Amino acid sequence: MSDLLTIILAAGKGTRMKSKKNKVLHKIAGKKMINHVVDTAENIPSEVICVVGHQAESVKQAVNSKNIKFKLQSEQLGTAHAVLQAGKEIKDHRGDVLILYADIPLIKQVTLNQMLDKHHDNSADLTIMTSVLKNPTGYGRIVKNNSSQIIKIVEHKDTDEKEKSIKEINSGIMCVGSKLLNDALNNIDNNNEQEEYYLTDIVSYINEKDGRVISYQTEEPAEITGVNDRIALSKAEKTMRKRINERHMANGVTIIDPATTYIDESVEIGSDTIIYPFTYIEGDTEIGVNNMIKPHNHIINCKIGKNNIIINNNLIKNSKIGDECQIGPFAHIRPGCDLKNGVKIGDYVELKKANINAGTKVPHLAYVGDAEIGRKTNIGAGTIFANYDGVNKNKTIVGNSVFIGSNSTLVAPLTIKDNGKTGAGSVVTKDVEENTTVLGVPAREYVKKKDD
Ligand code: UD1
Ligand code: MG
Repeated sequence: MSDLLTIILAAGKGTRMKSKKNKVLHKIAGKKMINHVVDTAENIPSEVICVVGHQAESVKQAVNSKNIKFKLQSEQLGTAHAVLQAGKEIKDHRGDVLILYADIPLIKQVTLNQMLDKHHDNSADLTIMTSVLKNPTGYGRIVKNNSSQIIKIVEHKDTDEKEKSIKEINSGIMCVGSKLLNDALNNIDNNNEQEEYYLTDIVSYINEKDGRVISYQTEEPAEITGVNDRIALSKAEKTMRKRINERHMANGVTIIDPATTYIDESVEIGSDTIIYPFTYIEGDTEIGVNNMIKPHNHIINCKIGKNNIIINNNLIKNSKIGDECQIGPFAHIRPGCDLKNGVKIGDYVELKKANINAGTKVPHLAYVGDAEIGRKTNIGAGTIFANYDGVNKNKTIVGNSVFIGSNSTLVAPLTIKDNGKTGAGSVVTKDVEENTTVLGVPAREYVKKKDD
């Protein structure tokens, strides 16, 4: 067993968020708050316990790790009471306990390691992560005596005027020996403004027992932002976004304006890709090297190869794009599309469940749904794949080197074989054989006459 036990508190009601959803399920850079903390905790060798309560089942389901043990706090009586739910594990544990709050999602592993190192180097019984804030409103204050020793933490609501002016705050993150923690938890009362069992009260208890209480003061207050309301949520989002953008830039991605580029934590981007302003890249998206992503693109859950140009204003979702393609402007690529290399999708084109093979072009104003299109085919301006007959969605198969004339309507189910052609304005209701041209409404085979 590891000599560190980590406890993540996630049971609170999160009232200040004014949400039907548990606070820790709100997302920051596309990832639920709880999972930011869980992922960081899992990078530190320890056994991890998560205390859940309010909407316990939803929080458990959201946690994307199999190694976490859950404890239920059925009534939310405060942070000390929450930790107490892991009482048995704390009692059985020989070593330190690291306590994290699920509403402090920006904490970095390196900072936690530094705090743990300081705790060990100083043989401390309790180390509290603190920070000095210009505006400490809402946070618990670190009260020290004349010899700079921490004597207690006072919650904002319980402060007197003098304590209110203290700028050093409690982050909530702490490391404490299991034996003292266990004793302290069993001796805390709820004699305070909120009538809650405050974890912060263990400071006074450990002091009374002559334990060694120290602080680890972080230089980066943004890391310990407590996300209690929507304002803090937006601040955390901004910090996380900056962090993510800087990671990509360090890896060789050009982000022209990080302030207007929104990339989820899960996204991967290859070097020499250039991202223009006002771009959103979300979910499970992988983008290869040397792509140009022009302004105002929104890309969600996509796999994109290399050397593509994605011109302005496209929405691309749950789809695959190969290499050397050109997309947009103003294309809507709906879920289930697979574009192979060198495909061109032009302006005002909507695609849905379309498999489009190498070198094919859909350059202007078209709807292509439930389609399989071969290589080097051209789909003329204004073409509609009429895939819906009012009851069912039907498929259209278009072969290689086909030429679909402008404003054609392809009424599915339909197959147009290799080198087939449709005349402009045709309404095609029957399959078209290889090397055959059809035209008219409804389209009929066109056979060239002598004087044509
Ligand atoms: C807490 C600290 C405060 C610190 C601040 C930092 C206490 C008493 N106060 O205040 O000193 O400055 O964090 O952000 O600890 N939770 C439970 N069960 C409960 C109550 C809360 O699991 O009964 C969980 C919440 O889900 C949350 C965390 O504990 O993840 C902190 O609770 P919260 O109510 O946000 O405490 P703060 O008022 O922010
Ligand atoms: Mg909080």
